Amino acid sequence: MVSRRGFIAAGLGTVGVIAVGGGLMKAVDNGVFSVGDGVAFEAWDAPLDGIEGIAAAAVLAASSHNTQPWSFRIREDGIDVMGDTSRLMGLADARLRELHISLGCALENIAVAAAAQGLVSSVEYVRRTDDHFARVTFAKGEVDPQLTTLAEQIPLRRTNRGAYDIERGLTAAELESLGSGFPGGLELQRLTSADDRAWFGDLVVQATGEHIADVDLQRDSHAWYRMTRQEVDEYRDGITVDGAAAGVVGTTFLKLFPPTPDQFDGQWAKVTSETHCATAPAYGLIIAPSTDDHRAWVETGRAYQRMHLTATALKIAMHPLSQPLTIRDRDLARGECNTYADALEQRAGGEVVLAFRVGYPLVDVTASPRRPLGATLS
Ligand SMILES: Cc1cc2nc3c(=O)[nH]c(=O)nc-3n(C[C@H](O)[C@H](O)[C@H](O)COP(=O)(O)O)c2cc1C
Repeated sequence: MVSRRGFIAAGLGTVGVIAVGGGLMKAVDNGVFSVGDGVAFEAWDAPLDGIEGIAAAAVLAASSHNTQPWSFRIREDGIDVMGDTSRLMGLADARLRELHISLGCALENIAVAAAAQGLVSSVEYVRRTDDHFARVTFAKGEVDPQLTTLAEQIPLRRTNRGAYDIERGLTAAELESLGSGFPGGLELQRLTSADDRAWFGDLVVQATGEHIADVDLQRDSHAWYRMTRQEVDEYRDGITVDGAAAGVVGTTFLKLFPPTPDQFDGQWAKVTSETHCATAPAYGLIIAPSTDDHRAWVETGRAYQRMHLTATALKIAMHPLSQPLTIRDRDLARGECNTYADALEQRAGGEVVLAFRVGYPLVDVTASPRRPLGATLS
């Protein structure tokens, strides 16, 4: 594994080369030597005590394209969660499926962080007025012991886009434990056989090509790319060079010569096929029995976030691979013939709400940027 210290040491090894080119200042400015440090990453060190700390934990949840599409209102006895409609992804989330999943991820971090303080959360879903989405109320009570142990994983969880150990599949017990506590109605399908993995891997690679070929979809996706250190510090969200897990040399190069979004996508297509799918010992599909069930999408987010925290404790890596679902949703929204919906539904027997790969990682990854809690309070 490449540790952060190893990364910095290897980066320092390239100082001579950079300095010869007169680029040392550029390297510093572009964050070559400060991976995961700086204002965009301070939220990861926030204390998680009290109700404000519970909201700070929500900020650390996963969200599609790291859009962080939420805001919070802290009450004396709980937290109101709002969807932030200024942070939508357009055609890249044409049915708002990923918005609902992301809000579910935040809700789960709230429930886990509250449990660590001996508080039971009850969640009331609110009809969407003024973007108000859910009202969480806390009460002292008997908390689920599984949740309390997961709280310490909240600041440690990372989406890992690096290579996984293809020789070391998860045991049946590990796969089982990742799906424990799944809410009724949702199903976790595990794809572990060579045939199943080839089927889904091919679908992901094909959909990545379609994604890149669609100018409108790309425009909406690129709106969330933060390719320079200045953008990362300013916006504190989005898809970053560090998040690509491109290795020491690759990341250093990308930081010295920040790619255009199109160049970054060229690399994305390559790693999707050669790393993400080629090194996936297993995929997981979270399936809802019926389509368009927004509540099931939120529950999927909660289940995924909990699963990822559980995996983090076991040193197991996870990484959503949404491309087939993004293209399916785009075509559904456009009312077009839908080969992805057909392929996925035929296989899954319901609506695939989220898909991901899972395995033992071969590289460590750093935290992604976050807006500070203060910027999310309304
Ligand atoms: C609904 C949803 C869909 C996602 N889809 C993808 C994806 O297709 N590819 C990917 O690399 N990451 C995907 N992610 C992971 C996010 O990009 C990630 O959560 C975000 O960048 C924040 O990083 P973190 O999880 O390390 O905190 C997805 C996350 C969510 C919640």
